[in-house]
This record gives sequence, C-alpha cells and structure tokens, in this order.
Amino acid sequence: MQTRTLGTTGPAVSALGLGAMGMSGAYGEADRAESIATVHAALETGVTLIDTGDFYAMGHNELLIAESLRGRDRDGYQLSVKFGMMRGPGPEFGGMDGRPEAVKNFLAYSLTRLGTDHIDIYRPARLDPAIPIEETVGAIKEMIDAGYVRHLGLSEVDAATIRRAHAVHPVADLQIEYSLISRAVEADILPTLRELGIGLTAYGVLSRGLISGHWSVGHTAGPGDSRGFSPRFSSGNVEHNLALVEALRQVADAKGCTVAQLAIAWVAAQGDDIVPLVGARTRERLAEALPAMDLILTADDLADIEKAVPPGAARGDRYPSAFMSGLGAGN
Ligand SMILES: NC(=O)c1ccc[n+]([C@@H]2O[C@H](COP(=O)([O-])OP(=O)(O)OC[C@H]3O[C@@H](n4cnc5c(N)ncnc54)[C@H](OP(=O)(O)O)[C@@H]3O)[C@@H](O)[C@H]2O)c1
Repeated sequence: MQTRTLGTTGPAVSALGLGAMGMSGAYGEADRAESIATVHAALETGVTLIDTGDFYAMGHNELLIAESLRGRDRDGYQLSVKFGMMRGPGPEFGGMDGRPEAVKNFLAYSLTRLGTDHIDIYRPARLDPAIPIEETVGAIKEMIDAGYVRHLGLSEVDAATIRRAHAVHPVADLQIEYSLISRAVEADILPTLRELGIGLTAYGVLSRGLISGHWSVGHTAGPGDSRGFSPRFSSGNVEHNLALVEALRQVADAKGCTVAQLAIAWVAAQGDDIVPLVGARTRERLAEALPAMDLILTADDLADIEKAVPPGAARGDRYPSAFMSGLGAGN
C-alpha cells in the first residue's frame, strides 16, 4: 500500500482509507464479526487510516473500532474521528453542536470509547451555523496543544470556512464527498485546498454503493439502510443513474477491472493530495477495493470514463433535502 501525506502539515496515511460507518448500521444490519475481520484485513494489507464518527450509532462504531484495534501498536494506524452531530434515541439527527465546551466533552467520550490517549485527526462533522468556526477549531487547537489530538480536520464545509479555520490552526485535510457523480468540490473547494496546502479525504467514492457495479434496479434498501432515503437511489432517478454505471462497466471491462475499482481509481487519480475512503464492511468488498490503488489510468482511460459519466450526469441530490443546506458543496 502506498502512502499519501494529508496536506503540508498532516500525517502520512495509507493512500486508501477505510470508512467504518457502514459497520454500524448506516447501510442496514452489519455483521459484527465480519466488520472486525474487515478492519483486521485492512490493517494487514497496509491500510492505516480508519475513519469513524462518535454519532455513528451513538458510539457503537467507536467501540467496534476499539475492539478491532485492541493490542495493536498505536503508531501503526491513524484514527480520523468526526464529532458534533447531535442524535436522539431514535433515528433522528438534531443538528450540530460546535461549542468549544462541547468539543472537549465529545473528545473525552471518544477517547474513552476508542481506548486511546489521542486521536490523529479530529474534525467537526459539519459547520455549526450558530458558532463561528474559529471557536470550534480554537477548541480543537487547545486539545492539540494539550496532546489529545494530533491534527485538525474539517468535513463538508465551504471554501470560506476552510480559510477561516486554517487561519486559526493548519488544517490537515477536508473530508468531503467526491466521486464520478459528485464533483461539486472541483469548482472552489479543491483549488482552495491546493492553495492552502490542505489534503482531501474523499468519501462516497462509490456513492454508497450506487456506482459500485453491485446495485441494480430491483435492489431495495432494507430496514435502517439510509440509502432508502437517498434521492439518487429513489425510483425514477436510480434507473438513470444505473444506466451511467452500465456505461462505466464497458470501460471497466475493456480495462480488465471492476466498476468499483474504476470508480475508486478515478478519485485517486485526481491528485496525490486526495485519499479515497472506502466504506467496505466485508472482507470481500475490501478485497475488491484494494487493487484499485494499483490501477494506472491513462489520459485515454480518463477520457473514456468522463465520456461514460460526464460531470453533472447523475440524477437526484446526494442527500435528502433536509441535509443539503448543511453541506460544504452542492452535488
Ligand atoms: N464526512 C462525512 O460527512 C461523511 C459522510 C459519509 C461517510 N463518511 C465516511 O466515509 C466512509 C465511506 O463512505 P461511504 O460509506 O459513503 O462509502 P462508499 O465507499 O461510497 O459506499 C460504501 C458502500 O458501497 C458498497 N460497495 C460495493 N462494492 C464495494 C467495494 N468494492 N468496496 C467498498 N464498498 C462497496 C457497500 O455496500 P454493501 O456493503 O451494502 O455492499 C458499502 O457499504 C464512511 O464509512 C465514513 O467513514 C463521511
């Protein structure tokens, strides 16, 4: 596994990261033993960057990660943790809490659940519109100075917010959705990151499985699977979007790889400052994803891919309407 450095001040991490959200129910029921085996398989193949969030099933995901990593050398992996998204006892989300005192409170709980004395990259999951970003990241800077956090990260914020946060403390990376069908970051956000020397960790590179080549029109999201609320998976849009995947499949077939590998490799090819996260929750899916990092895409390949899936070709927003206003970039 190659490594990539997150921005000019961030850590060197595996060129592919593992996102653990799906291991705690975001895509319906997940198999705990298989999730843990997937984390182990990732570490054994050199994946060192593991992404989680304290609100992924209310701490469940952090506890699962802690169990998976028990007994391992703490310097052998990097934990990226998102915080601040408020939950309720049911499936509801209650907005963001980015108050400085809340930052420290969330961090204390995460450190305990993860069973570690520090988090490698700590980031607010979204901007709290009621709190200036300077205050939220100022609290993280304090936690960096105190040794509890190594690096500041951001998630789904716009270019102006990135600049304001970076003026308080150097930002290692922005985590944001970036895929063949979600390219809004290319307009302002990616140039801003490059100007400031900030890395990008890309999530949703398979658009939650939609462009993985494994989703089909008849496939419906099961209970608790957030894809059941996603406009891109909804009837009327999914047929259009899967036609794009079929066009991509032709390019993948010609290249001798799978659709998922092509989609991951495309994101990785957009720059050495970009680290794709994949949301594999089984060893089988992970084993498919890993070879993507060895796939070399030529200029002709990139042109064929963009011809199959031109920018803006997908139908439907990338989040349900209630969540769209909290995003740093559009579709
Ligand atoms: N900052 C943010 O706002 C934010 C938002 C969302 C996610 N994230 C982070 O980013 C990570 C990845 O995001 P994501 O879950 O949306 O990722 P994704 O990689 O786009 O989608 C993951 C889903 O794709 C399907 N899939 C099919 N083939 C696959 C393959 N070869 N490898 C991996 N997955 C395959 C899997 O579904 P099946 O298992 O059902 O086949 C899997 O659950 C999350 O785990 C989380 O840590 C961050």
